[in-house]
Amino acid sequence: PRVGVVLTAAGSGQRFGADLPKALVLLRGRPLVAHAASRLAASGVVDEIVVTAPAGFLEHVHAAVTSACDLPVRIVAGGVSRQASVAAGIATLTSAVEVILVHDAARPLASAALVRRLVAAVQSGIDAAIPSVPVVDTVKEIGPGDPPVAARTLERSQLRAVQTPQAFRAAVLRRAHEAGAARARDEVTAVSDDAGLVEALGLPVHLVDGEAAALKITTPHDLAIADILLSESDG
Ligand code: CTP
Ligand code: MG
Repeated sequence: PRVGVVLTAAGSGQRFGADLPKALVLLRGRPLVAHAASRLAASGVVDEIVVTAPAGFLEHVHAAVTSACDLPVRIVAGGVSRQASVAAGIATLTSAVEVILVHDAARPLASAALVRRLVAAVQSGIDAAIPSVPVVDTVKEIGPGDPPVAARTLERSQLRAVQTPQAFRAAVLRRAHEAGAARARDEVTAVSDDAGLVEALGLPVHLVDGEAAALKITTPHDLAIADILLSESDG
């Protein structure tokens, strides 16, 4: 089946605090979005990519991505939320696409092997597959107050932290985003990943093993860790 990717890069990177969008921040002299695109292409299972870019940076993102991979690439302006950006990306993929991967430029080192595992999972017949890793910290739900009180301790063995890329049967992801957009019009709560929209439809989302390399770059400290991971893998 034809595989399309929505690569999200339209965020501003407020928590990172650089003077340019986070996806264009350099890691070893290369923008984060270029690292992500090159690994997607290296998987050998991706046919087309649409990248969401911040307003005013479409040309920059296009240059960064086309220098990193030779797949057909389209750039689309992002929306006000990540969910809106992904929806804009999905709408731009060709109708021949049967499997959609949603990936964040903020996870530049997610491996080609991980991409292949996720696509294989959906090709085996399931609707949705996402990478996950065990949680190492104890996680508490907070109650009222400033600072808040701990209201409840969650059972750590039952928790997983999830990453991208997330893989979906295209029809399922399109339907999940339509329903999600309708809910977003009258609800305040945002769903922070695409799998959450599929779960809201009552459909199963399968967990596959994630990886340390798929860490998310949120702050400059994370960028330093990514640099160390590159040293370990590329020598
Ligand atoms: N993203 C997007 N469109 C938005 C918001 C985010 O495409 N309106 C993308 C980001 O570019 C990133 C991914 O979604 O690749 C995950 O978001 P996050 O890590 O939160 O990045 P930013 O929103 O840029 O960072 P911050 O929240 O610190 O501003
Ligand atoms: Mg954000």
